[in-house]
Amino acid sequence: MSKAWGGRFSQATDPRVEQFTESISFDARLAQVDIRGSQAHARMLAKVGLLTDAEATSVCAALDDIGSEIASGKLPFQTSLEDIHMHVETALIQRLGDVGRKLHTGRSRNDQVATDLKLYTRDAIDHVDSLLMELQRAFVERSAEDLDVVLPGYTHLQRAQPVMAPHYWLAYCEKFARDRERLADCRKRVNISPLGAAALAGTSLPIDRQMTAELLGFSAPAANSLDVSSDRDFLIEFCNCLALIAAHLSTWADEWILWCTTEFGYIKLPDAYTTGSSIMPQKRNPDVLELIRGKAARIMSAAPRLLTLVKGLPMAYNRDLQEDKLAMFDAYDTVVACLDLAPAVVIGATLQRERITARLEEGFLDATTLMEYLIRRGVPMRTGHETVGKLVRECEGRGCRLAQLSLADLQAACPQIGDDVFGVLGVQNAVRALTSFGSGGRASVEQQLAVWRERMTTSQPLRMPTSGNPTLP
Ligand code: ARG
Repeated sequence: MSKAWGGRFSQATDPRVEQFTESISFDARLAQVDIRGSQAHARMLAKVGLLTDAEATSVCAALDDIGSEIASGKLPFQTSLEDIHMHVETALIQRLGDVGRKLHTGRSRNDQVATDLKLYTRDAIDHVDSLLMELQRAFVERSAEDLDVVLPGYTHLQRAQPVMAPHYWLAYCEKFARDRERLADCRKRVNISPLGAAALAGTSLPIDRQMTAELLGFSAPAANSLDVSSDRDFLIEFCNCLALIAAHLSTWADEWILWCTTEFGYIKLPDAYTTGSSIMPQKRNPDVLELIRGKAARIMSAAPRLLTLVKGLPMAYNRDLQEDKLAMFDAYDTVVACLDLAPAVVIGATLQRERITARLEEGFLDATTLMEYLIRRGVPMRTGHETVGKLVRECEGRGCRLAQLSLADLQAACPQIGDDVFGVLGVQNAVRALTSFGSGGRASVEQQLAVWRERMTTSQPLRMPTSGNPTLP
């Protein structure tokens, strides 16, 4: 088959070169956005007189057909046609002959592929955003159920201070909120139209880039054709957003993997989301969480891979850029797979309340509250710190808790202590004593939960209105 670009060639392409240079095996998933872009382009060509209205209408209708054929797997792909753009255009020419041969007027595959990628990434951002919202919803739902549970908070994975269990769940909501903000910010730069930048320099033809930008829901046409035809910043930004989502997911997964060990025993995962061992009959493994943690590596590798791809690349388009899709698609698919499963695990897990309570008094979670009690009694902070440190050592020697020391013992260490000290000792008292804004105490957590409930009822997924269907005149 002769190539669309074959005019100046006297030899057929070596089949191994065709195999080496093809991208249809992975860019076929751009088919629908490619068709949307081409329909907008055809409408614009009609408006500026480069196609007749009747030609544009038949091009748009034929592109609709081709889109359905591709969606139902009826259009055969062949490596000799290289990529999705050539497949769609060839199918159009087969249907419409010379009218089909006019579609590529005033554009190049370079602005076309950049446009496709931006349309695809915009949808991907909206999808990831809505999945993140579902995950936040799951944590908010859990929070209402777990308002009676106190958990140890850790630093250095050593018991530190107690917090209400929902303080943990809402901490994840905050992390995912920042992820959603980052996606929204990235979306602004994704949403600038490359279409009409043509190969690199624009065109001498009277195209209307404003019109195609509007038809495709872009906020504006890109100002510089050289820049936009070589720009993949938006993909790197998107993959960086995904990397942080993966970091947050992996922290959560790791925490719960730890918490469902026999050693911790804080949480029980639902049977449907755990798996067994082929040799050890007792095992119930948190494989879903382990794979969420493991897949973070895959997701995180996309942005550095893309940065390496663009480093030192001369302007404008270079074929190297064809590799960009592989990294982004893989990271996107992997994030989606994790986010699809995560809410069910969040909702389905049960806190092992008895077990948590039974061991809550271990580890001196009330030591800092005792020190703060001393500060309120006029003891300088550093002195209070040392005093409580000595009391903890005393308790360790006797094998008891701070609350089990007598008033006399406590006063021997620090005469400022009164009998109201027993109102701050013990973990329940210690968590009640946490009152600062954003703290893990009950009042703060209830306030956070109220804010999150409100946000979840008003929060809309990112999807912004896109202006019009480009197939309509
Ligand atoms: N398949 C190519 C890519 O993904 C499309 C653009 C090719 N442009 C070109 N002039 N060879 O980057």
